[in-house]
Order: sequence, then structure tokens, then C-alpha cells
Amino acid sequence: MNLYKKLFALILIPPVLLLSGCSHARQPRIIRIGHNQSTSHPTHIALAAFQDYINGHLKGRYQVELYPSELLGSQTDMVQLTQTGAIDYCIASNAILETFSKNYEIFNLPYLFASADSYHHAMDDPSITTPIFTATQKAGFTAVTWLDAGTRNFYTVSKPIESPADLKGLKIRVQQSPTNIEMMRLLGGSATPMGFGDVYTALQSNIIDGAENNEMALTDNGHGDVCKYYSYDMHQMVPDILIGNNAFIQSLTDEERAVFEEGYRLVNQVQREEWVKAVDAAREKAASQQKVEFLYPDQAPFVKACLPLHQSVLQNNPAIRPIYDAIQKYNTRYPSDTE
Ligand code: GCU
Repeated sequence: MNLYKKLFALILIPPVLLLSGCSHARQPRIIRIGHNQSTSHPTHIALAAFQDYINGHLKGRYQVELYPSELLGSQTDMVQLTQTGAIDYCIASNAILETFSKNYEIFNLPYLFASADSYHHAMDDPSITTPIFTATQKAGFTAVTWLDAGTRNFYTVSKPIESPADLKGLKIRVQQSPTNIEMMRLLGGSATPMGFGDVYTALQSNIIDGAENNEMALTDNGHGDVCKYYSYDMHQMVPDILIGNNAFIQSLTDEERAVFEEGYRLVNQVQREEWVKAVDAAREKAASQQKVEFLYPDQAPFVKACLPLHQSVLQNNPAIRPIYDAIQKYNTRYPSDTE
């Protein structure tokens, strides 16, 4: 967490906590939700819908406040704040959650899903997500819904990536997850893990040669101002996850819980509708204004390099094997993109 964000957290949160702790019974309980995207991003738009829904349906009892743009720190910082109850919810990439429960490793596997259809159907299937979403009970938080974060692809400042061989010698930013670091090793690049908010400066100052993410990173985070090649190797579909503090969730009455659950459903629905529009707009803007060139390499060599990771993760964590097998059934049913 950089200095001004730390100061923000220190200055802002304690008085708010103090207020909610000593508040008169009729004062609404403030619910703080942090995330790392801009206010025009689908994530924020979906959380704003949640905010309206909860504030409207539980008026006087709860008041949702949103903290976008890493105001409360990096995703890892925000997960820790959610664990302790300093904030109530945050959005975290599935990638960083694997350090809190190994079960999250599954959705970080490269080339896990055969298509966006397979990904969406699997993520909508509670028999697949529940064992993962409830795996962090002991860590103090629970996942309440997922958000689409599209497909992750490599993008670079100056060297187009047409095959894994092109990654050799390049420093590529990855999310802070052992699975991602291993994926980069298998692909031949040099993994440089760091938080999302540090990537732009690292690209600009040549600390890294590229990164990997969905198209929104080019436009919404300005990475396309620096990186001119975006290669659709389609290595991962990593969902974002809305997590909530356990003690807070358990404090809700049955009636309130039902309202919150409808709110979580709304987050998922609104975010996914907005996502489709936002990605189209990002591609258009990146190509026309930022002059990013989109490349479509043969994916087969990337897939071949990454596949050993499936076996090693399953061997080290046999508990996720049934989930992996269930996902294969969706892959058989939805082998290529039809949406
Ligand atoms: C995407 C994802 C974020 C994540 C970011 C990253 O933008 O939606 O949750 O933090 O990638 O690469 O760190």
C-alpha cells in the first residue's frame, strides 16, 4: 500500500469504525466495499447497483459505501481488511485468493476452460463454485458471487508475442499467485509479480516488458498508451470474486440475508451485462486511439507448454480433482465459443 493510501486508510477508517461502534440504534450500519477498478468500470457499475439495492431495501439499517481505485490499498491489502472486518466486502481476483485457500488454484489454471460458454456455465454451477467459495471460512471471509474478468492475454511494449519463444527474456508482470508464476516459467518468460496499481509505472519505466490481462487494462488503466501489441493467446479466464467478512454476513437476520443475496445476484448480472459492452468499447478505443495492434497467434504451442501445470496442481491438491472433472464436462458440452 503506498503512503497516501495508507494515510487515507488510517485517517478515514478509524473514525468510521468508531461511529459504527458507538452509533445510536437508529443510525445505519455503514458497509464498506473496496475494489481496484475505476468508477466507469463494470465492477464499479455493478457495485453501485448493489449499493442502490441495499440502501433502498434496508433503508435506515444499512448504508453501503464504495471505495474504488485502490483507495484502500491493493487487492491483497483489501482482502486482509475484509478478513479482520475493518471493511465488509471487497473484490479480489481469483488469482490472489489461492494464497488464502489452495482450492482457488483451480480457476487460475491456464487453458482450464475450453470456451467462454464453458467458463460461464461452470461458474454459474454451485456444485462447482461452492466448495471453492466456502473454503476460506477459517480465514474469516466467504465468497458471495463472481464477476467476469474476460480472457487474459499477453501485451508488450515493443515485441509482438507470436509464440511462447517470443516471451524468452521478457519480464512480464503477473498477479501475485504461485500458479501464475509457474505458468510464466513454463511459457519461458520471466514472471514479475506485482499489484495491479503498480503496473502502469512499471511498464512506462521499462521495469517490465509487458503484462497479461483483459482488454480493459489497455484503456481503463492506460496500459495501451505504452504497450502496442496485444496477442490473443487466451491463456486464462480468471474470475473476480466478491468476498465478504464472515462475522458481518453471519450477523444478518434471515430477512436481511435474503436481501443481500438478491444484491449479490444483481452484482453478477449487472457486471456481466456491462462487461460485454465494456470489452467491445475497449477494443475499439485501443485500436483506433491508442494504436494497439491485436495479434492472433496459434494457441496450440501456448496450450502445450502450460498443460503440465494441470497435472502438478491436481497432484498437489487432489481435493480439487472432482471440480476439475466437472469442468471437463462443460468443456465437452461447450468446446468452442458460441456466445
Ligand atoms: C483484472 C481483474 C482485477 C485484477 C487485475 C490484475 O483487471 O479484473 O481483479 O486485479 O486484472 O491483473 O491484477
